Amino acid sequence: MPQSPHRLPPDPSGIARAAALLRAGKLVAIPTETVYGLAADARNDAAVAAIFDAKGRPSFNPLIAHVADAAGAQALVEWPAEAERLAAAFWPGPLTLVLPLKPGHGLSPRVTAGLGTLGVRVPDQPATLALLRAFGGPLAAPSANPSGRLSPTTPEHVIAGLGPRVSAVLDAGPCPVGVESTILALVGAPHLLRPGGVPVEALEQALGTPVAATGADPARPQAPGQLASHYAPQAALRLDATDWRSGERRLGFGPVDCDLNLSHAGDLREAATNLFPHLHALDDGTHVIAVSPVPRHGLGLAINDRLRRAAAPRGKAGRTA
Ligand code: TXA
Ligand code: MG
Repeated sequence: MPQSPHRLPPDPSGIARAAALLRAGKLVAIPTETVYGLAADARNDAAVAAIFDAKGRPSFNPLIAHVADAAGAQALVEWPAEAERLAAAFWPGPLTLVLPLKPGHGLSPRVTAGLGTLGVRVPDQPATLALLRAFGGPLAAPSANPSGRLSPTTPEHVIAGLGPRVSAVLDAGPCPVGVESTILALVGAPHLLRPGGVPVEALEQALGTPVAATGADPARPQAPGQLASHYAPQAALRLDATDWRSGERRLGFGPVDCDLNLSHAGDLREAATNLFPHLHALDDGTHVIAVSPVPRHGLGLAINDRLRRAAAPRGKAGRTA
């Protein structure tokens, strides 16, 4: 039997061990405020290649670089005034900025899939920030799930999905935000590549300008996370369900009778936190999961985005992150 990954405590000994494994080119699953990431040294070509291999991720889908602070980002990318303003407002936090790469960045070209831009963020998770400081460089980390499957918000999800392909999991329990970071491109006019943990309304307020959505063409994604089928459970989903049909697993929102409720009180923050854990729990691969309507504002935009992708028909090409 292959060994399961070591679980490392989120204390100085666990963090030192995680940093040593990463320096040795190993893969370590790291907690973030959004979801668990599958981390490797972003400057080590073989280690980054191992991320793509472990996830079954196509090599054209770029990775986010995680850094300890804005100075860590400035070593890698061009830094316009909008980046400064957004980093001051939202980092550490669930916002990824896509910016032009700077010469001498030192990253493996696999991180950006050969693009001239890089997605970079500072995660809001104390153990992972301590790890980034101890490690002393950028960590490339996609969500720690097999490509195209539901994102992991607990160490148990990571171990169930990736098992021995990961050397260790830095175990800080469940992730509080529960949906991935918002991705904003600052290449030309600011535009949203993926709704996520920072509501777009908050970005617009900080920038003082509207943020355009990409108007994503699912056939030609700018962020491959925009591909239609993504974040998919094994079972089929029925969205905006206002009644329950027999044999369905019922995922509610608001004061409804159901199997699991995203938020009985109708709170979008609570619903985001519960989204992936509840989908993992209801997914038995056979029963349709019916989901109550969720409002389409604030964090509801990210929740509806993930639900829509989870419900989309499954093309093989759609399984990319
Ligand atoms: O919250 C998160 O962002 C989590 C945690 C682990 O940080 N990470 C995450 O990574 O969701 P991943 O790889 O599952 O999703 C990253 C998305 C992908 O859809 C990728 O295509 C897009 O970001 N992306 C990365 N670099 C990009 C770039 N330079 N230009 C456009 N899209 C990019
Ligand atoms: Mg992902």
